[in-house]
Amino acid sequence: MESNFTIFNKQNVTAEEIAAVLRLKHRLVLDDLFSKAYELKLKYRGPYVYFRGLIEISNMCRKNCLYCGIRGANEKVLRYELTNNQVLEEAQFALDAGYGSVVLQGGERNHRAFTERITWLIKEIKKLRKGDTAAGKNPSSRDISLGITLSLGEQTKEVFQEWYDAGAHRYLLRIESSTRELYEKIHPQEGINKELHLYDKRLQAIMDLKSIGYRTGTGVMIGLPWQTYLDLARDLLFFKEIGVDMVGMGPYIPHGDTPLGEQYLKEELGELSNDDKLLLSLKMIAVLRHLMPHINIAATTALQVLAPNGRERALMAGANIIMPNVTDLSVKGNYNLYDGKPGVHDDAGATKNQLEKNLENMGIPIGWDSLGDWR
Ligand code: 5AD
Ligand code: SF4
Repeated sequence: MESNFTIFNKQNVTAEEIAAVLRLKHRLVLDDLFSKAYELKLKYRGPYVYFRGLIEISNMCRKNCLYCGIRGANEKVLRYELTNNQVLEEAQFALDAGYGSVVLQGGERNHRAFTERITWLIKEIKKLRKGDTAAGKNPSSRDISLGITLSLGEQTKEVFQEWYDAGAHRYLLRIESSTRELYEKIHPQEGINKELHLYDKRLQAIMDLKSIGYRTGTGVMIGLPWQTYLDLARDLLFFKEIGVDMVGMGPYIPHGDTPLGEQYLKEELGELSNDDKLLLSLKMIAVLRHLMPHINIAATTALQVLAPNGRERALMAGANIIMPNVTDLSVKGNYNLYDGKPGVHDDAGATKNQLEKNLENMGIPIGWDSLGDWR
């Protein structure tokens, strides 16, 4: 059993060797993989899980990724945009709840009014202090300001820089798949859409974020049509090669109103049952913890679609970040990247209580009021 995982200590572990681990099925061997990953998390990052309050600012998007429920061409989506006040109230909730950070996530848009508004919001969020209310500032608040992560798609380097200068210090931009051919299969590659969905542009954007100084996060979807174990192994090596600070990866969950949703189930990994897909996602997380023991690894919401305790199981396999949703209930149900989004009827308070209870039962402490950066 031991010999299965010593490969991760080698400098030059190969994609084939990693793929062999991802294919493992024996329960005892997998338990060993997960518990070793958990030990590595304890050793390098301590026992804590860190929260980032997720604010889904808008479901408007100029793109048409073939897998995504809020793709621009999906006319069934009721489009919304949170008001500035809503965003700030949700950020204040996250701060008061002790989350330490917020993630501003939304569809990709690039007109100037949008990018300027984000700059303004970043600056305003940075001014919030714990215990402030609409009636006024909290005079006794400790000087904690929220960490800000952005997840707003590809932008020009100038815009990335502007947002960084305004106070955002992390950015999430998934590569979706590091295999160019697969990336091209799951994104439109024809007509006016093509320019918006180029693999090289995505890669360049990730490099731009790194060079500006963002703590940069990326990730992939797991269980895509056409995807192979070798693709996934290469994804893990890709994260290591470019040296990311955070990874958020989760299962691909088909959305009925998307082109890829229909393609699903026809290919190698498409045949996976939900249980197998969850297990594969846990294996990816555990192997990544072995390869990059210091970084932040998210237990993503999509895991929760496959099993109610999917995220908690990810924590036991090496993940250390959870992004509780703090988005206003009135719009939460419209931000559907995939079918079956969990918790759309729970408000931010209920979400927090449930998570706290689950984590307490598992004996996992929460890193309250902390940024939880690894460097
Ligand atoms: N299943 C799982 N994840 C999805 N995303 C988009 N659509 C889906 C889906 N159907 C993920 C993408 C994107 C992130 C915001 O959501 O990886 O980067
Ligand atoms: Fe837009 Fe992101 Fe969905 Fe692509 S994955 S359509 S960029 S929201």
